[in-house]
Amino acid sequence: MEYRRLGNSGLRVSVLSFGSWVTFDTQIDDNAAVECIAAAGDAGCNFFDNAEAYAGGKSEEIMGRAFRELGWPRWSYVLTTKVFWGIHGEVPNMRNTLNRKYLMHAIDGSLERLGHDFVDVLYCHRADPNTPIEETVRAMSDIIDAGKALYWGTSEWSADEIRAAIEIADKHGWHKPVTEQSQYNLLERKAVERSYARITEDYGYGNTIWSPLASGLLTGKYRDGIPEDSRGALSGYEWLQGRLSDKEAIERVERLRPIAERLDCSMAQLSLAWATKHKMVSSVITGASKVSQVVQNFETVDVIPAITDEVREEIEAAIG
Ligand SMILES: NC(=O)c1ccc[n+]([C@@H]2O[C@H](COP(=O)([O-])OP(=O)(O)OC[C@H]3O[C@@H](n4cnc5c(N)ncnc54)[C@H](OP(=O)(O)O)[C@@H]3O)[C@@H](O)[C@H]2O)c1
Repeated sequence: MEYRRLGNSGLRVSVLSFGSWVTFDTQIDDNAAVECIAAAGDAGCNFFDNAEAYAGGKSEEIMGRAFRELGWPRWSYVLTTKVFWGIHGEVPNMRNTLNRKYLMHAIDGSLERLGHDFVDVLYCHRADPNTPIEETVRAMSDIIDAGKALYWGTSEWSADEIRAAIEIADKHGWHKPVTEQSQYNLLERKAVERSYARITEDYGYGNTIWSPLASGLLTGKYRDGIPEDSRGALSGYEWLQGRLSDKEAIERVERLRPIAERLDCSMAQLSLAWATKHKMVSSVITGASKVSQVVQNFETVDVIPAITDEVREEIEAAIG
């Protein structure tokens, strides 16, 4: 396993990591979650991602229990969570906000569900146009000073918002955010490759990217329709079905098949390995609903060296 610095920070994270969106509680139970985390850990994964909003808080509970059951020392893994959406319904100050009051309650709630004293990285899950960035940066910095998080980051913030946060923190001597968490995969490249180019250059801002397989579309398994046991067949995720059965996207994905066959890897591994190659990427957060997927996805470390600049260009030309 390769360990990269999280942005400009000194924290080292595995280039392939594991997250629990959709899967924990919705698709897999506590035992399967322990097995998936264990399989990722066996493969050298040290970075585990969660969010307050996943499964209405249950995902954090399951992950926290899993770490206790595995008995891993706290120093051996990097645990992250994200806050913004809230889980208490339509209550003022507790939904879709990054105001100080919400952030202080949200971190305490997450730590309680996780059964941990601190998270390694706390992300603002989205930007909040209704709270001054200065208020958010101060609160995130105070959370770090209180020992409840070691670092903080952003998720799907614009480059301008990130730049403002870094400059405000610099001006006041507060803790700066160190990483983004944005969608990045062969079908969704613009934000990472274009919008963040300057903040990568100027600040060495990192990125722990999400949905590297576009929710499974890049595995090629949606070619013949939506498989029964897949995310695409879940009730409550109908909004994803259009994307997962988009004929044009499926045709583009199919153009990767011969490249994967030639490199003797799966299509999932090809797309994951490609995603590790962007210089902003500190870690590629994988998701899985089966241990076999975890094993296959983490075996991608053996495929990464095959993605030379030439092969990368070939992949990008093929997908279009
Ligand atoms: N910051 C944010 O806003 C945000 C948003 C989304 C996600 N995330 C983070 O990023 C993580 C990963 O996102 P994601 O789950 O969307 O990642 P993804 O890699 O795009 O999709 C994962 C899904 O693809 C399928 N899959 C994975 N490996 C496979 C394989 N080898 N063969 C066949 N199918 C495979 C599985 O679904 P099936 O059940 O269909 O098999 C799996 O759950 C999340 O867990 C979360 O931590 C963050």
